[in-house]
Amino acid sequence: MFSEVVKIMEKVEEGKGITTLRFLLPECGSPGQFIMVWVPGVDEIPMSLSYCGDRGGITVKEVGEATRALSGLRPGDVLGVRGPYGRGWGLSAGRTLCVGGGVGMAPIMTAVEALGRKADVAIGARNAGEIIFESRARAASGDVRVTTDDGSYGEKGTVVALADRMMKEKRYDMVLGCGPEVMNKYLLKACQDNDVRCQLSLERLMKCGAGLCGSCVIDGLRVCADGPVFSGEDVARMTEFGKWKRDDAGLRVKL
Ligand SMILES: Cc1cc2nc3c(=O)[nH]c(=O)nc-3n(C[C@H](O)[C@H](O)[C@H](O)COP(=O)(O)OP(=O)(O)OC[C@H]3O[C@@H](n4cnc5c(N)ncnc54)[C@H](O)[C@@H]3O)c2cc1C
Ligand code: FES
Repeated sequence: MFSEVVKIMEKVEEGKGITTLRFLLPECGSPGQFIMVWVPGVDEIPMSLSYCGDRGGITVKEVGEATRALSGLRPGDVLGVRGPYGRGWGLSAGRTLCVGGGVGMAPIMTAVEALGRKADVAIGARNAGEIIFESRARAASGDVRVTTDDGSYGEKGTVVALADRMMKEKRYDMVLGCGPEVMNKYLLKACQDNDVRCQLSLERLMKCGAGLCGSCVIDGLRVCADGPVFSGEDVARMTEFGKWKRDDAGLRVKL
């Protein structure tokens, strides 16, 4: 477990409003785990590790103040990191289909690299500019397919429709998924329909990141400590999944 200030070594623009920052990590973390990132003077937010190993990295999509400030940092700038936190992917010995939607490819990519040729990959995004890590996935896996909602790159359609077709074509022992909650919801249904076990990485508002404050609770489970990766069976039992999240004040708001 670490809590340190690190210097950014490298910055890569991955796509429209999506940036990777690389820095030396005191401890590796395992695929699917996340860290709390302190952006000096702005906020502290959870970010998945998009690179494990001593040269770690995070891949940030700009959605608000903290992610915009993070994306604006440059090599030589500093940020605070603590972690690694949470339960990552349970990597199975069998064939695995890894499904990433948008910046959800960040924690998926570390699983793909750990699984190597045992992993097939379905990458999806709204448009061509938001497809990330395709060449990285192709270097690790033998079967990588890409889809965009607007058809501007790869196949036209949703990544869940693509994953559903891949499950009908090949036999998988496990599906790993990370993306917007609506994607996770339909991916869970597709896995149930095809009788394939799955694990999904969930997001909820995080303050402590370490299992103490309760801000990330979904149906009594803390996403930061009991997740962020949950089994499909656990997710199927969650009554708030796909429907509700909690705001800063802990109030339930519709997704
Ligand atoms: C375990 C985990 C891993 C994540 N990994 C990544 C990643 O690899 N790359 C990436 O781009 N994003 C990731 N996120 C989402 C990221 O943390 C939020 O986009 C970020 O906190 C938004 O902060 P903001 O100030 O830019 O935006 P805001 O304007 O504050 O919020 C924009 C949206 O982000 C959500 N959000 C705000 N603060 C938090 C918070 N502290 N915790 C969780 N959600 C929050 C809000 O619900 C809101 O819908 C992850 C979230 C979790 C929980
Ligand atoms: S963020 Fe505090 S318990 Fe999960």
